[in-house]
Amino acid sequence: MERLQKVIANSGYTSRRKAEELIKSGKVKINGETITTLGVKVSNGDLIEIDGEKIEKEEKKEYYLLNKPRGVISSVSDEKNRKTVTSLIDTDARIYPIGRLDYDTTGLILLTNDGELANFLMHPKNNVEKTYVAKIEGILSPSEFYTIKKGIVVNGRKVIPTHIKTRKTDLEKNTQIVEISIVEGRNHIVKKIFEAMHHDVIKLKRESYAFLTLGSLKSGEYRELSVKEVKKLYNLK
Ligand code: URA
Repeated sequence: MERLQKVIANSGYTSRRKAEELIKSGKVKINGETITTLGVKVSNGDLIEIDGEKIEKEEKKEYYLLNKPRGVISSVSDEKNRKTVTSLIDTDARIYPIGRLDYDTTGLILLTNDGELANFLMHPKNNVEKTYVAKIEGILSPSEFYTIKKGIVVNGRKVIPTHIKTRKTDLEKNTQIVEISIVEGRNHIVKKIFEAMHHDVIKLKRESYAFLTLGSLKSGEYRELSVKEVKKLYNLK
């Protein structure tokens, strides 16, 4: 037997606090009977409904690695009706992306319905390394390169890449391809790093996330993580 609000929260329907509010406002039924007090316990066989919708008990945890295409938004829904990363994955589970990639950024993004792992991986103190490949406008001078390598202040906070190297320089087109690894996850952070040096990012791709890489996945393709990979992510703790 478990408390009703806990079962609702574990189902992924909403948070425990919101579940309590729903119960108090008379929106929740157990086996057809409206419950308005907290503290009621339910068992596996009980039918729980919220506003007439049946609540599925705790979802099986699912983990996906997607090669995000350009022009897809890193969220579950979008008020402008743009394509979302979750719509590319064939599952009924309530998955969501772990962190964000910009609309025009491509590459590796993880999705799951495992809130514990997602929170852990997204927390800045946990130092999960991500590697990006940026095509930039112009060519970094040695001093600009060194400034970024040493650590650059973005919006009042210093970001020190764990790794940076130039992959290719196109003198004719005046562009450069730079590989950069960082552990933090602020929005638009890679673009901001190069913009601070007056180089716009023309293209951005995330190639790795912790020990995970895209492998042979093409744009828009995805795969499930193996049990071993999920354990390894948990062990980054
Ligand atoms: N940094 C960016 O600027 N954009 C991304 O999508 C990810 C990291």
